[in-house]
Amino acid sequence: MTQFTVFGNPIAHSVSPKIHQLFAEQFGLQLSYSRSLSSVANFSGQVAKFFRDGGAGANVTVPFKEHAASLVTHLTPRAKRAGAVNTLIPLGLGQLAGDTTDGFGLCRDLQRLTGEQLPAPTVIVIGGGGAARSIIEPLQAVGSEVVIVNRTRARVEPLRDLFAGLQVMDLTQLALPPQAIRDSAGFILINATSASLQGAELEIHSEWFAGAELVYDMMYGAHAQTFLAQAKRGGARMTADGLGMLVEQAALSFALWHEGLLPNTATVLEALRTSSQS
Ligand code: ATR
Repeated sequence: MTQFTVFGNPIAHSVSPKIHQLFAEQFGLQLSYSRSLSSVANFSGQVAKFFRDGGAGANVTVPFKEHAASLVTHLTPRAKRAGAVNTLIPLGLGQLAGDTTDGFGLCRDLQRLTGEQLPAPTVIVIGGGGAARSIIEPLQAVGSEVVIVNRTRARVEPLRDLFAGLQVMDLTQLALPPQAIRDSAGFILINATSASLQGAELEIHSEWFAGAELVYDMMYGAHAQTFLAQAKRGGARMTADGLGMLVEQAALSFALWHEGLLPNTATVLEALRTSSQS
């Protein structure tokens, strides 16, 4: 049976195995998809071993997406610009390709949630790690103005040279009420930080939440709740966790591993929502 896995930390509650089983069923395929708890010290060794042992593909999640980009022998152009990899594809002879399907997944989910062809004129992304970087280009490609907001400004300043038109702000600017953006045609606020993993709230003025068309957390389930609860208290009109994005990015990973077979995502998302409520 073909073997797949997802590397991350934490990883115990990842629903990726379930998603890929449901996708495989759609095509009558048999596969095994496991969770691999990793650490900074072990990550590259674990990845090498997995593929040496015949692994057919792997996903990479928090906090190894940037690390994964430095491991592979071939980076797709979009993964190179993102500096992040969430999908590993074996090329044979010990060679590995790295791609990122996160941006595709996010755009598809935002379109589903807002019912619009373009997510929104302006998308404010909080965070500057691999998760944030991997969504900049896909959002720009669908016509959104992207603003990156990070606690450590120095980390995101160089991104301006990589992504034309990218705006950069300090996280402290979100502690104040919005000004320039307040009258704009609409904006989406996305949390791409890992702050929720420590249960930490971000210091954001409630008007940012109340003014957003949609407040979105790229994490899902319990990990998204700190930020989304804060957003609701701040008056957010619509909130969503990243479960839809997870399913959409998984669908493109699946297609990359299975000769372009793109699964139906709506039924899988519904099945996951139903099982998480039961
Ligand atoms: P990932 O690959 O998931 O993006 P990462 O590279 O570790 O993970 O990046 C984590 C992001 O969350 C960073 O933008 C980090 O901000 P810094 O660049 O300033 O470190 C952000 N982050 C994590 N904890 C945070 C917190 N408590 N408050 C604000 N930002 C936080």
